[in-house]
Amino acid sequence: MPRSAPALPSPAVRLALAALLVLGLAACGGAGRGGRPGADGAGDPYFPRMGNGGYDVTHYGLTLSYDPESRHLSGTAEITARATQDLSAFRLDLKGLGVRSVTVDGAAARTHRDGQELTVRPHDGPAEGDTFRTTVRYAGTPQTITDPDGSKEGWLRTEDGALALGEPNGSMAWFPGNHHPSDKAAYDVTITVPKGLRAVSNGELRSETTRKGRTTFRWHTAPPMASYVAVLAIGRFDISRSTTSGGLPVYSAVDPAQAGASRAVADRVPEIVEWEERVFGPYPFLSTGVIVDRDGDAGYALETQNRPVFPGAPGLDTVVHELAHQWYGDSVTPETWRDMWLNEGFATYAEWMWEEDHGGDSAQDVFDALYSGEYYDSPSDDEALWAFPPAKPSGAAHISDSPVYERGAMVLHKIRETVGDDTFRGILRGWAEEHRHGNADTHDFTAYVERRAPGKDLGPVWKDWLYGEGKPARP
Ligand code: TRP
Ligand code: ZN
Repeated sequence: MPRSAPALPSPAVRLALAALLVLGLAACGGAGRGGRPGADGAGDPYFPRMGNGGYDVTHYGLTLSYDPESRHLSGTAEITARATQDLSAFRLDLKGLGVRSVTVDGAAARTHRDGQELTVRPHDGPAEGDTFRTTVRYAGTPQTITDPDGSKEGWLRTEDGALALGEPNGSMAWFPGNHHPSDKAAYDVTITVPKGLRAVSNGELRSETTRKGRTTFRWHTAPPMASYVAVLAIGRFDISRSTTSGGLPVYSAVDPAQAGASRAVADRVPEIVEWEERVFGPYPFLSTGVIVDRDGDAGYALETQNRPVFPGAPGLDTVVHELAHQWYGDSVTPETWRDMWLNEGFATYAEWMWEEDHGGDSAQDVFDALYSGEYYDSPSDDEALWAFPPAKPSGAAHISDSPVYERGAMVLHKIRETVGDDTFRGILRGWAEEHRHGNADTHDFTAYVERRAPGKDLGPVWKDWLYGEGKPARP
């Protein structure tokens, strides 16, 4: 049934109402009351609900306490953000856990939860450009999240504690935030655990204090970090500290059960970082290291910022890969999950270059083996390599498939072949420099390469290797 139209007020009354409205807005100084709710997603083509619109986080202050015995996490998240529109309400991503209270700039805010969206309706909504601080008190048993591809992330229980991992959407299991890679921020993570356990996170350890049977670790990350590379590892760890020849602090945490098997490769972290600095340019963060948990604590290694995580003693190639992500992924972060090959193609190519530089197979050898199909034992793996083009994964469940990794690396090899070794090395370094601590997408990359290699015909590389369906023909 159509609703009946309301009767319009007379022109004189309308004029008076309009004048009142203008006066009212002026009296508010543009702040508060007005505005509209921020979007419930960041516009990602693969994960539409991930992240939120209307604000940019500049800093997360997380104060957490965890007890492995009861599996209880309690915490306060202080989120400092800048409004990018007038906001009547905004959303944070949080999965599970109970929200005890939310304030915005100290004033209680109304909240509503619906799936992973925590909607916050401040008493006075921030105006565009305002910096505002949201404080969320929360507690509960954090959940493990299953990815679209079936792998486990979020909060993973381990024998002696827990491991929190975020790629692509696990970080909402342990703190509320704008969980999309396009919104990077600084972090302070303060975490209290029972004495005897340690808590390892990103950035640098500021302090460690034990009182009344509990130890508090304060971790600080100043350079911007995407939430999917935030990490928290709680358990028993052997700690080792050193420095690279360039003076970069190395802080590594290894589960005692993995210490023997990890020692040789963990000791090579400085050498690997020094080689990567020669090839990729200055290390983008203020410290490095590794976190080695036990086999099965996670189903994969992950390039968590500053210190990647490995489930069990890693191979050298995996350490080279995860540390290469510090430049490609953690410092230069994809704009959306469609740009994932900018992470994985680069980190995979880093492994090929390491081998080539250390007397192993050349990148050309690996490329040829992949192209001919000899690289894989099974025909179905070979077929999977050509299932979709690197720049257009066939869905959220496929962002970590071989077309993103190996075929992504093949794109880089084709660029190298087209522009020559010297220009190629300049492109690798320049790309890391150009978008250091930022975000970039595939188009930014192709445009950058074109600029660095004027007169080279890169069209076929983009058309056939980067965007083309199926296996490209040999030129
Ligand atoms: N990024 C990890 C690596 O290659 C692998 C990985 C872990 C991953 N979890 C993921 C990739 C989720 C895509 C989605 O080092
Ligand atoms: Zn990777």
